[in-house]
Amino acid sequence: MRIGVLASGGGTNLQSIIDACSCGRISGEVALVISNNSSAPALERARKAGISTLHASSATHPDPAGLDGAILEALKGLRVDIVALAGYMKKVGSATLRTNRNRMLNIHPALLPDFGGRGMYGMAVHRAVLASGVSVTGPTVHLVGTEYDTGPILAQEEVPVLEDDTPDSLQQRVLEAEHRIYPDTIEAFGQGVIAVYPDDTVIRPLCITGEFDEAGRMLASDRESLRQIGAAGGVVFGAFADSRMLGCAAAAPSESEEDVWKLRGMAVSSTDRRPDLDSMMFDHVRKAVSNRSGGRVLLSPGAS
Ligand code: GRF
Repeated sequence: MRIGVLASGGGTNLQSIIDACSCGRISGEVALVISNNSSAPALERARKAGISTLHASSATHPDPAGLDGAILEALKGLRVDIVALAGYMKKVGSATLRTNRNRMLNIHPALLPDFGGRGMYGMAVHRAVLASGVSVTGPTVHLVGTEYDTGPILAQEEVPVLEDDTPDSLQQRVLEAEHRIYPDTIEAFGQGVIAVYPDDTVIRPLCITGEFDEAGRMLASDRESLRQIGAAGGVVFGAFADSRMLGCAAAAPSESEEDVWKLRGMAVSSTDRRPDLDSMMFDHVRKAVSNRSGGRVLLSPGAS
């Protein structure tokens, strides 16, 4: 997988992607780093790692369509498969976005759809989180849509907000989570473990740590079973539209038979649930089990 990164600032997320490529956590390489800011430390990090760089801004290309075209051509020229925005402070041009639809990712330092949109970047996000009094925040990785901070959500990691947090301390804790979640999501997306279907439904692994929120309408009994499956080293996938969960499927290793996993379909008590998603979720579970252990998944879809 060849990755193109667009970054305007410090580039710590870029660095986490470069490092993940070097150690094999991402099976790919960063082919190009583009910045609108010629003195961005992100460009320096890229040069240090021997990666091609491009400075493209209204200073180098006064005509917006020309700028859009230059960025698009650079990505094409280096045969980039996935584009990762990592603190890119400009709106991506329409030609670049159209051509890279469904393979351009962004990371945002809050749990979208909350605390996103125009003006919600940098410290403004963390200040708004603190002012709201929520107890949980954390980064979101999403596909880039046409408006700021929109597009199907691929992954989120919850980070607690502590009582004595300042915007700085919160930013620091969220940034650490960003450096975990962004490389892992790029790899999972690149490998098809996280998939976005044509109607924007996302099927992705679930991390069974926090509570599901009210809108998720997860039944308490299912939530407990899922937690147990997660704790037993099982795999759990959920199907989402926006941030609403439509359903989930899980498999746990069988205690009695080696290499046999038991599949469970979990109902989400929601009118949004689409039974047609079951087979897609089961496919993801089966693939994950076979990748992880080579194990077989037993029981027909729908069994519990
Ligand atoms: C990060 O907080 C990211 O979520 C946001 O911009 C910031 C970039 O930080 N989109 P860095 O340049 O990667 O250090």
